[in-house]
Amino acid sequence: MSKQTWLTGITTSGTPHLGNYVGAIRPAVEASHNHKHEGFYFLADYHALIKNQDPAGLRQSRLEISAAWLALGLDTEHVTFYRQSDIPEIQELTWILTCMTAKGLMNRAHAYKGVVQENQENGTTDPDKGISMGLFSYPILMSADILMFQATHVPVGRDQIQHIEMARDIAQRFNHHYGDHLVLPQVVVEERASVLQGLDGRKMSKSYGNTIPLFETSKKLRKSIMKIKTNSQEPGEPKEPDGNTVFEIFRAFASPEQSSDMRQAFVDGIGWGDAKQQLFELVDATLAEPRERYVELMANTAQIDTILAQGAQKAREHSRPYLQQLRQAVGVE
Ligand code: TRP
Repeated sequence: MSKQTWLTGITTSGTPHLGNYVGAIRPAVEASHNHKHEGFYFLADYHALIKNQDPAGLRQSRLEISAAWLALGLDTEHVTFYRQSDIPEIQELTWILTCMTAKGLMNRAHAYKGVVQENQENGTTDPDKGISMGLFSYPILMSADILMFQATHVPVGRDQIQHIEMARDIAQRFNHHYGDHLVLPQVVVEERASVLQGLDGRKMSKSYGNTIPLFETSKKLRKSIMKIKTNSQEPGEPKEPDGNTVFEIFRAFASPEQSSDMRQAFVDGIGWGDAKQQLFELVDATLAEPRERYVELMANTAQIDTILAQGAQKAREHSRPYLQQLRQAVGVE
């Protein structure tokens, strides 16, 4: 079997939080050290532009997210780490694919349909209110991201499965018409990928405003953890660990042994203050070293730019000749 190519994109919106770490960054960093596969990891900044039209915020988020991935040990020697916007070939491929995509296929995309539905529910007269062509054709840009690097495996969360299916549909239509040039990607759903609970017990997510930032100071981290919502059970009362936010976050960072000790402590009636203090100490110890690297990178963002420029160069060694092949296939060479 030929070598697998794994590729995934990270939309550069918001400040990285513990949920991003556990659900996406940690598994990807681990995979980057597995030299069995070729790996492409990129910052989907043109995807972020669809929702974020505040230039300073967009730039800041891109820097914070790159710094977080680097500080947490992404192996950039082995994998190719780059910015989507540094690869002009992706945009050219986007147009070629746009001309191969049925509008009806895009009508079915969840991201777009979700907004239409919201408009209808709010009684808005124009169902397309607030919908840009960027949002509408978002899956085509995502297909270009994937097809540009002949990815065979694309690890994503459940909400993205439809987009990978669309990439396959579009690639199939292209291949049917122009010959076998594009590689059909396979979706890898990270079933195990932990979904972390946030301060209020719902999924930790920027849109709920319940996140714990990944790289704030130790003092602020402690303060955030102390804000986790708990019930009114007193110290000494046995507590249910499963499903409890403090326990679940603890478990996401702990060794099996530490988890079973904490489980026992819950049963024995540990007080919320103590449990949170232990959670803080564990998370703080895990993040202390990467935090130093993160602060250093954010203080000297030129280092980030250099790494991304090298990544872009590596990526373009692939995208340039391949786009040439595709241009030739469609007759615009
Ligand atoms: N849309 C994806 C998300 O929001 C990010 C992304 C952009 C992506 N391009 C991609 C993921 C290509 C996988 C492959 O999570």
